[in-house]
Order: sequence, then C-alpha cells, then structure tokens
Amino acid sequence: MLQLCFIGLTLALAANASPVYQQPLILPPHAVATKRVGIIGMGAGGITAMRAIMSLPEEMRRGWEVVAFDELSAVGGLWVPDDTPAAPPALPKTPLYPGLKTNTAHPSMTAPNVTYPPETPFLAPRAAVLKYWQDYNAATELAPHTQVLLKHHVERAEWIGDADSGHWRLSVRNLSHSNTSSSTFTFDHLIVAPGITRYPRIIHLEGQEEWLNTEKTITHSLWYRLPEEFTGQTVVVVGGGFSGHDISGRIAGAAKKVYWSRTVGEGAGTLPLPLPEGVEGVPRIANLHNGIVTLQDGTELSDVTSILLATGYEIRMPFLAASGLIEDAYGAAPPDRLSTSTNYVHPLYEHSLSLDHRYPLGALYFISLMTYNARGSTNTGQALFAAYTMADPTLLDTRDNYYAALKRREAAVRAEGYDPARIGHRPGIGYGPLFGHLGDGPHQDLLVHALRSRRPELAGYPGIPPFGINFTEQWRAYGIDHFMDVLEGWNYGTRTYGAQWEKDMVSGQRTEADYVETFHRFVDWWQHEKVTSTNTV
Ligand SMILES: Cc1cc2nc3c(=O)[nH]c(=O)nc-3n(C[C@H](O)[C@H](O)[C@H](O)COP(=O)(O)OP(=O)(O)OC[C@H]3O[C@@H](n4cnc5c(N)ncnc54)[C@H](O)[C@@H]3O)c2cc1C
Ligand SMILES: *[C@@H]1O[C@H](CO)[C@@H](O)[C@H](O)[C@H]1NC(C)=O
Ligand SMILES: *[C@@H]1O[C@H](CO)[C@@H](O)[C@H](O)[C@H]1NC(C)=O
Ligand SMILES: *[C@@H]1O[C@H](CO)[C@@H](O)[C@H](O)[C@H]1NC(C)=O
Ligand SMILES: *[C@@H]1O[C@H](CO)[C@@H](O)[C@H](O)[C@H]1NC(C)=O
Repeated sequence: MLQLCFIGLTLALAANASPVYQQPLILPPHAVATKRVGIIGMGAGGITAMRAIMSLPEEMRRGWEVVAFDELSAVGGLWVPDDTPAAPPALPKTPLYPGLKTNTAHPSMTAPNVTYPPETPFLAPRAAVLKYWQDYNAATELAPHTQVLLKHHVERAEWIGDADSGHWRLSVRNLSHSNTSSSTFTFDHLIVAPGITRYPRIIHLEGQEEWLNTEKTITHSLWYRLPEEFTGQTVVVVGGGFSGHDISGRIAGAAKKVYWSRTVGEGAGTLPLPLPEGVEGVPRIANLHNGIVTLQDGTELSDVTSILLATGYEIRMPFLAASGLIEDAYGAAPPDRLSTSTNYVHPLYEHSLSLDHRYPLGALYFISLMTYNARGSTNTGQALFAAYTMADPTLLDTRDNYYAALKRREAAVRAEGYDPARIGHRPGIGYGPLFGHLGDGPHQDLLVHALRSRRPELAGYPGIPPFGINFTEQWRAYGIDHFMDVLEGWNYGTRTYGAQWEKDMVSGQRTEADYVETFHRFVDWWQHEKVTSTNTV
C-alpha cells in the first residue's frame, strides 16, 4: 500500500513539472485587481509567503506589488548565523549556536515538493537548513514586481482607515543608512512573519537578586553559543524543552557538573526527552537563597555557579504594539482586538488570519506562529490561504463564522486539559494527541480545503490538490509519529557508529520517495537496535 503511494507520487511529480490549471479565474466584479502586499520577516515563514503569492496563476496576481522586509543582511531568519552576539541586554539575531543540528528529520521540515539536496544527513546541520530556505527563495527572488529589502527594520505598522477600507502604513528604518529618519511604505495587505523566538522568556527565581549580587550568573539560552563558556563550572540548565536538552548535553563535556532541572512526566505539555550523557536530571528550582540552589524536593546544590535558563521565548510584535494594534496582555484586551499572551495571539482563525475588527478581514495574516511542528508544510498551507484569499476576497467566510470556529478550537484545546493562552499555537493540541496520528496534518489541510470548498474550480490550481486528496502528504504523519525515534536513533547511530554510518544511511537518497523510504528503513532499524542496545548496556 505504501509502496503504491510512493509510485503514485513519483508519477504525479513527473507529469506535473509545470503546474496545470484549467482556465483563468474570472475575478468577481468587486475584487481588487491591483494591490500592494507587505511581508515582515524573510525567514522560512516570509519566504514561504512570497513563494505562495508568486505561485498564484499570473491572472490572479496581475498588477500586484510585493515588498518584503528583513532587518538581517540575508534571508533565512534564525538560520542566518550570529555567532558572536553582543552581551545582554542587546538581543542576538538568532538563538542558534555553532554545531546545532535540526531536532527534526529534514524530510519533515520541507515545503511540499521541494526536498533537501541528495544525501543530506537526516538531522541536518544548520547551514543546510539555511541553504534550503535561501534556495527556495531564489525561485522568486528576481520575479518582477517583488522586492526584498534586507537590512530594513519595520518600526511601526499602522492601519489608516476603518473596519471597511483603508491601507497599512509602515515606518521602516534603512539600516544601511546612517540617516536616522525612517521611510514610509503603504500596503493593502500585510503578512507578518517575524519569528517567535526573538524575545527570551526570563522567569523570576526566588532569591535571584541575592544570587546575582555574588559572582554567580543567570543567563538565557538565547545568548548561549559554545560549551567553553562553562568550562570548570557547575551549571543548572532550567527547562525541559529541546534547548534545555541539547545545551545541557553539549556543555556536559566542558563543565565540571551539569544538572538539568525540569518537570518530568506526562501532561503539562512535557516532552519525553531522554537525559543526555553526563547530565544529572533534577526537579525544578524552589529558590536561590544564601548562594544555594534549593530544589522543589528540598535537595540543596551548594556549588552551583551558573544558571542557564532554557525557558523559551515570548511572542512579541513591537511594530504592531507601537500603533496600538496588538496588546501585550491576553484576557485584558477586548476579545475582538489583537492581543498576545506572549504565548498565543488572539483572535486568529487557524493561527493565521487576524479577526480584529478594526480593519477588514484579509488585511492582516500571520505565518509561522506554530510551535512543536516542522513548519514547511504548515506555513505553506497558511501562505496559500493568504495568497488565494487576497486574490479573491469572496473565498473568505464571515468574521463571525471564523470567530465561532476559533472558539470551537479553543474549546477542544481546553477539553484536552490545556489553557490556549498558555499552551500557544500547537498543531498537536485541539487536533488530536500530541505527536499522534493526526500529527500536523489537519491544520493546513483545513485551510487549503476551505479554499476549494468555497470555489470548487480551484481544485487543481497551484498548491490546491483535487478533491479527495489531502494537502498534507500521508508520509508526513508518519514523520510526526516517529519524531522521537529519529531524534534518539540518529544521535545514537552517529555516536555509536560514527560519520560513515551517517553517510551510509542517506547514501543514494535523491528524491522525496527515496527519503521517505529511508525514513521507514531507519525507524525499523532503530526499533530493533533500541532493544538490542538496551540489552547490551
Ligand atoms: C534553537 C532552535 C532550534 C530549532 N530547530 C528546529 C528544527 O530542528 N527543525 C525545525 O523545523 N524547526 C526548528 N526550529 C524552529 C524554527 O524557528 C522554524 O523552523 C523556522 O525556521 C522559523 O522561521 P520564521 O520565518 O517563522 O522565523 P525566523 O527564522 O525567526 O525569521 C523571522 C525574520 O523576521 C525578521 N524580523 C522580525 N521582526 C522584524 C522587523 N520588525 N523588521 C524587519 N525584520 C524583522 C527577523 O530578522 C528574521 O529574519 C528551531 C528554533 C530554535 C529557536
Ligand atoms: C537603503 O540604503 C542603502 C544605502 O544607502 C541604499 O542603497 C538603499 O537603496 C536604501 N533602501 C531604500 C529602500 O531606499
Ligand atoms: C533621510 O532619509 C529620508 C527618507 O528616506 C530622506 O527623505 C532624507 O532626505 C534623508 N536625509 C539625508 C540627510 O540623507
Ligand atoms: C506539489 O506537486 C503536486 C503534483 O505536481 C501538485 O499537485 C501540488 O499542487 C504541489 N504542491 C504545492 C504546494 O505546490
Ligand atoms: C486524509 O487525511 C485524513 C486524516 O486527516 C485521513 O483519515 C485520510 O485517509 C486522508 N485521505 C487520503 C486520501 O490520504
């Protein structure tokens, strides 16, 4: 059965080297034929938005102008290195550090139909991910009527108008210029993709003021770069997520002692991440009085010199806050106005379309707010929804219906025991079990399916599959299910069998079908090896 799927996929790819769509859409009379679209951020999210717009049939985007802004000097967002960041409080451009490999197999991270280069290791070095998105962007880079303005910082985005009509006014600072005044750009639609890992979430630990009055330190993983920063020290890494897991393992080689402090067990959205070699797992910190780290179980750690917070990030959008268009307090803001709880932006239809009533529906979209998923497919679904609904506003349902759908989604999240404002934008919650069989499929499928169900003739248009075929390929769900197998098994394999093993695993892999086949082969191998290796330890 699976084999048949892959053959079907290969044939479809070969037959459709260029997209086929039957006839030009006739724009409804009230649709705007000419428009200006602004994109904020050219990481994976903004790049996907640009590509989705340019993939629209030419007659649907005739007369459009698209301008994307990024303050970095290259596209690619957080995969662009910033290996010698300024000291706090200046914020590094990225949290990524030298030596970082993906925590997700790259076939799961791709945008549909575009694979990584042949023989890329499954857990890819960060440079490979950067190159992937830069290559993906190159396809639209030189398209007419599009512009990517690098080293341009968007300071403020303001809606000039009311609920029925108007335009965006952006104040943008050109960072290549010593000139400190900013220029103004106007747009009909705005796509916001500024990333969600720019602002550190700094938790307060009881007694930290005392602690910081000594030689002892507290830093956040956003600034972490090299294990040598902790040579000879005793460190507590705080936070049970991917960063806490990866960084505690890395510094274990250089530090005198590393504790990893986190909540263990089921529930509360905890991840089943294994304890890295050379790291001691401990409960959460109760307080830091008298130079001693006291844990919640009463244990005292007296020789700790550094605390590294791997406590995640806050979703903030200063350029919208500057014009009062987003409030940094979910719950306090009126429910029909945009707010961020720092984990969750509300009210959005399917984590993407703003339902704020101060501007028309379709004026503002967000891409890439979701966490705990590999975003290539998700972002593409969101970007296609934005592109098609900008081109044809009749594809949009009413604000009230979308709001009702949002409240149903939030109720489903609560029914699973989570507070939406805390748990944030997660594909695995409110859609089915985390990493369960529903994986990250239904969210983007829902968005793409919404387009073709409102205008059936769109089925078969670029990015929109015919009826009966899901937008999300079946094998992606398998990838989500076996996410932990890949993370554990790949690291085990490279550690145990070395670089040649890694090369052999991806030897000859070229097409998507090849990678998917390797995925299955690898998981089968690891399920066997896991048992064998445990037995021999
Ligand atoms: C440590 C770490 C490891 C990760 N590992 C993986 C992984 O293995 N696999 C995976 O799939 N995902 C991983 N991710 C998730 C990663 O964030 C996403 O995969 C994705 O690359 C995010 O893309 P983005 O475009 O949403 O955001 P970003 O890459 O952050 O891009 C946002 C861009 O917006 C620009 N910008 C923001 N505000 C402004 C402004 N006001 N004016 C101008 N420009 C602005 C920024 O300069 C930036 O270039 C990891 C994240 C972190 C933090
Ligand atoms: C920003 O400044 C640089 C250097 O002066 C200039 O080349 C570039 O055209 C400016 N950008 C815009 C959009 O004007
Ligand atoms: C500064 O930039 C603004 C906007 O781009 C421009 O109007 C102004 O002439 C510039 N001033 C100088 C001194 O270059
Ligand atoms: C991927 O390729 C298939 C087959 O050519 C096509 O139907 C689909 O629209 C493509 N997906 C995207 C997002 O471009
Ligand atoms: C589409 O996805 C759903 C789950 O979201 C699955 O049950 C169904 O079998 C899929 N259909 C096809 C044709 O792959």
